Amino acid sequence: MSTSVSQTTTLKNEVDLQPSPIISCHNLVKVYGEKDNVVTVLSNISFNIYPGEFTAIVGPSGSGKTTLMNILGALDSPTSGSYMLDSKIVSSLKDDELADIRNTKIGFVFQSFNLLPRTTVERNVRLPMIYSTNIAIKDRKNKILAAILAAGLEESKLYNKSNQLSGGQMQRVAIARALVNDPSIILADEPTGNLDQTTGKIVIDTFRQLNQQGRTIILITHDLNVAYHAQRIIHIEDGKIIADELNHKNSIREKSKNEIS
Ligand SMILES: Nc1ncnc2c1ncn2[C@@H]1O[C@H](COP(=O)(O)OP(=O)(O)O)[C@@H](O)[C@H]1O
Ligand SMILES: [Mg+2]
Repeated sequence: MSTSVSQTTTLKNEVDLQPSPIISCHNLVKVYGEKDNVVTVLSNISFNIYPGEFTAIVGPSGSGKTTLMNILGALDSPTSGSYMLDSKIVSSLKDDELADIRNTKIGFVFQSFNLLPRTTVERNVRLPMIYSTNIAIKDRKNKILAAILAAGLEESKLYNKSNQLSGGQMQRVAIARALVNDPSIILADEPTGNLDQTTGKIVIDTFRQLNQQGRTIILITHDLNVAYHAQRIIHIEDGKIIADELNHKNSIREKSKNEIS
């Protein structure tokens, strides 16, 4: 009798220890166009991402990566399939709930930085806080500084204008802007696409540090050398997942070859 109680308790504890996925996609499909011009850009995409993972989504140009990122970031909706973000069904959220999730749960980083031109670093990083009513005005300056330092930029750059910075520095400002509302997920679409190899590596190292501090990172890239820096690599081709594996460096090419053939 006492054994069965303790077994039940153990089982319950094990169930409790399983984390819920922070991202859960089930059979996502995205179709553009109508009738004779229908193009299926994503077909039956299913995967879970757990809190604290560093995942790369890699595939050639046109394979559907940005389309997928827009769905993961709640910027676009799938044609069919279900998407849960932080245990909420995204299609059931109202506009203001969606805006809130995009602003506080997710930090976006893009290939082309998307900074306000001829505007200081400080103002660029401050921007997402305009919509965050929960951050007291007096705390904002400290949060901007903390985000800039976490993104690897020196404090002395705070009042430089965005057009006075190098590409690598601009991407760091974009990372600081993505961090300032303290999101749990960073979604980065080709963040090294406009950077030389050395600067790109520094930016990827920054993502790795942010991951070590507990953030979930999703890094989208066409470049397998960039993807190799992640712990897990999801390969996408023609809108389909062709491999999804942990990055045990030497086995990954072998495994994906087997799964394709
Ligand atoms: N709004 C759209 N209307 C029609 N086709 C689109 C649209 N957006 C993307 N596509 C097509 O979907 C495919 C995947 O695009 P995308 O997701 O941008 O790929 P990737 O980011 O991997 O390069 C491409 O063939 C592209 O032309
Ligand atoms: Mg793209």
